[in-house]
Amino acid sequence: MEDEIVIRRATLSDVLLIHRLIQSYPHELILRPVNNIVENIDRFTVALRGRELIACACWQILPEIGCPEGATVELQSVAVSKAYRGQGIGSRLIKFVLQRISGFKPAQAIVLTFEPDFFGHLGFKQIEKTQIIHKIYRGCIYCTKHTNPFTCPEIAMALPMA
Ligand SMILES: CC(C)(COP(=O)(O)OP(=O)(O)OC[C@H]1O[C@@H](n2cnc3c(N)ncnc32)[C@H](O)[C@@H]1OP(=O)(O)O)[C@@H](O)C(=O)NCCC(=O)NCCS
Repeated sequence: MEDEIVIRRATLSDVLLIHRLIQSYPHELILRPVNNIVENIDRFTVALRGRELIACACWQILPEIGCPEGATVELQSVAVSKAYRGQGIGSRLIKFVLQRISGFKPAQAIVLTFEPDFFGHLGFKQIEKTQIIHKIYRGCIYCTKHTNPFTCPEIAMALPMA
């Protein structure tokens, strides 16, 4: 039973472990202060093996992309602990998240990622960053890593959900 991997909605008791997991991958992920994780905890999904938190993912509705009845959802903070990669946990996690957000009937899910092959396996296709220019403007304007979102190596991908 201790070996079983459980994927479930996050609770406040997971906050510090989520924070630590995201902090472990500063090159791949946008870091989040603890308060930000607390206020978004209802959008986090986690994977646990026993008491060990081994993966997390979050989502956010982007009203600026699409129409009110068919807004876009962005996947964020997708991370599997290094020791557990390549075992299908990331795929299970994203499928769980997509199941959660499908209830809102968004037009599409998008992600900005350095791991296009992983998201490609899940049906996401690369899109032009100009298609999500509002997200680029709002999300990338505070980036401290790259000077230009259009030359930044992150790849924009989308999965139609309508
Ligand atoms: C990307 C990440 C979430 C994948 O998690 P994972 O649990 O290792 O992924 P899975 O085992 O479910 O892989 C699913 C499929 O994608 C493929 N895949 C996963 N990562 C891949 C990679 N980096 N390159 C190529 N293929 C990859 C796997 O081979 C697997 O294919 P298969 O089903 O044919 O065997 C994980 O590597 C990670 O946490 N990376 C660091 C953080 C990050 O970059 N997150 C994405 C930010 S949006």
